[in-house]
Amino acid sequence: MPPCPHYFWCLMFNLEMAPADPILGLTDSFRKDPDPDKINLGVGVYKDDAGVTPIMRSVKKVEEQLLASESTKSYLGITGHAALPALTQPLILGNDNPLIGRGVVVTAQAPGGTGALRVTGDFLKKANPDATIWISTPTWANHTAIFQASGLKTAQYAYYDAVRQGLDHDAFLDGLKAIPAGDVVVLHGCCHNPSGVDPDADTWADIGSIARERGWLPLFDFAYQGFGDGLAEDRAGLCKVLESGVPAFICSSYSKNFGLYNERIGAVTYVGDSADEAARVFSHIKTTIRANYSSPPSHGGAIVAEILADSALRSDWEDELAQMRQRIFAMREGFANGLAARGVKRDFSFIKHQKGMFSFAGITPEQVDALRERHHVYAVRSGRINVAGITPDNIDRLCDSLIDVLQDSPD
Ligand code: LMR
Repeated sequence: MPPCPHYFWCLMFNLEMAPADPILGLTDSFRKDPDPDKINLGVGVYKDDAGVTPIMRSVKKVEEQLLASESTKSYLGITGHAALPALTQPLILGNDNPLIGRGVVVTAQAPGGTGALRVTGDFLKKANPDATIWISTPTWANHTAIFQASGLKTAQYAYYDAVRQGLDHDAFLDGLKAIPAGDVVVLHGCCHNPSGVDPDADTWADIGSIARERGWLPLFDFAYQGFGDGLAEDRAGLCKVLESGVPAFICSSYSKNFGLYNERIGAVTYVGDSADEAARVFSHIKTTIRANYSSPPSHGGAIVAEILADSALRSDWEDELAQMRQRIFAMREGFANGLAARGVKRDFSFIKHQKGMFSFAGITPEQVDALRERHHVYAVRSGRINVAGITPDNIDRLCDSLIDVLQDSPD
């Protein structure tokens, strides 16, 4: 019998089930959980004191204006809203950054930070197919998948010291010194995901010097600007690296700081060596986008551009962002103090010093499972918790639940 002409496809459709996504898969499980007191500390979305992911005031206002004024749904250009690059660059690099005036910075709108990373990955594969992409240990669960999907090799550098709950400073810098020219190093611009541990100013300067000396390319994943210490403070690290004169990619996201998660809005920025080189890179970023999703969706970019261009809307946005940051900080304090007040032996005060949405709670995958099974508390199995999911209503139950599962393996 000749083989069925669809033999190949029949084999394909016998594929094993793909594993659930370690972060977004949790949201699915959380939704299915009927417990009324369940707590979601999984996916990195901001929640207010009522446990709601709000639409920011400035966003709502602009959406109302857009509804009245929008006159077409025709395609955007390949790189998105024309106004967005000139508004994004000062936000991520600083108003007075001389790099902008030198014409070496190019920016394209992208569908979220993830889209920006994928465009960059596809571009890098084309520009230097043999490059290895170096990723911190630990890192955001999707980094490896994105760059491998672009066909790139990935490798890991040391970053987090789980014993001291801080940066593994010497191992980190030694690792960066060993990375060869032509490779690419993914750095978290601020609010390291998942650990909440960022380099200090001196260490950022050292990173810049090492990048320049060794000849590797920094690629900043910049998804949480405004959630650490402030918009300006949070870009200081990447600006310090750029001061050393190295080219770099910056994949920024407006999902978190504008609360525009489901509108998929971010940007890919390249800081080049010269205006000519940046223009050539940009031409290839455009062909990469065209072959990928053609042009970005409009709504999120239109909102961000309106807010950043209008001083009243912008100041309201910055105020609301500051309130969100302060609320997360208050929850960090409340959580660490709540555990201490319950007499927990382990010192959890490190939670107060970590930046952004996440903390590495220092619990094992089995303890994470026990939190979910016994207490309906959902966290990533690495032990990452989204502090922004803690509220005044759930904080006591969360502290009690954590103490219960810590007793499974007391130290
Ligand atoms: C997270 O780390 O939880 C967020 O960046 C959401 C995501 O896509 O994983």
